[in-house]
Amino acid sequence: MEMHENGNPLLDYFINNNGKSIYKWLHYFEIYHRCFERYRRRPELKFLEIGVLNGGSTHMWRDYFSKDAHIIGMDIDPACREMEKDGFEIWIGDQANREFWAGFKQKHTTLDIVLDDGGHTMEQQLTTFQELFPILSDGGLYMCEDTHTSYVTSFRGGLKREGTFLEYVKNMIDELHAWYHKSDEEISSGYLANYLYSVQVFDSIVVIEKRRKAQPFCVMIGNDQRVGHGHVLMTNVNVRAEK
Ligand SMILES: C[S@@+](CC[C@H](N)C(=O)[O-])C[C@H]1O[C@@H](n2cnc3c(N)ncnc32)[C@H](O)[C@@H]1O
Repeated sequence: MEMHENGNPLLDYFINNNGKSIYKWLHYFEIYHRCFERYRRRPELKFLEIGVLNGGSTHMWRDYFSKDAHIIGMDIDPACREMEKDGFEIWIGDQANREFWAGFKQKHTTLDIVLDDGGHTMEQQLTTFQELFPILSDGGLYMCEDTHTSYVTSFRGGLKREGTFLEYVKNMIDELHAWYHKSDEEISSGYLANYLYSVQVFDSIVVIEKRRKAQPFCVMIGNDQRVGHGHVLMTNVNVRAEK
């Protein structure tokens, strides 16, 4: 039986960690557990952590997810290869390098969860999302942390500055609602419009859920004059923005 002093097994693990060090903002633990809990027992889950550092967090993920989960680590620092001794699959490279991801994707054609805790610059966060979101499984989760760097000049951030990860996320909200302002042709050719199921923004963490979407429709159900006895399906409801 597992002991959860805080009702959050990740926070318990962190507080009691006497193995390899883990480096985290404390409020992330609630967000992790809230978002990852439903994947915990998923058999053969494929989880990629970008930013291994000393390896403590990679061990924590292995402890948290099911025993047959596949936990993969990626870091620019070759010293992280050391983690292979503990049985982890480790990739060494620069997350801002698209060629690196091309090589990675030759081996991994799908992932269930990606956690970006790497270098946190705008280029790194954006390139990694653009490269990996397409290979997330249907129902998969993409988490990018330390997104406050979108406001920090040394990471190429700045309040409402064009090209930051958080400005990109703000635009994602429009893509998620593509049905209401784009043409059918634009929607069918737009990847994000078809796969962005939700975008959750927390303090310094963004979580993007991928799910294949179909055209939304609404239904009226009841037993009155308008409906008769049963339901009415209303497609093509005219709610598209005018251009
Ligand atoms: C914040 S630490 C990771 C902390 C770790 N996940 C933990 O919770 O203890 C960031 C890591 O990202 C790595 N990193 C920095 N720039 C990177 C890049 N361009 N590509 C891949 N990894 C990078 C660093 O070497 C470092 O190990």
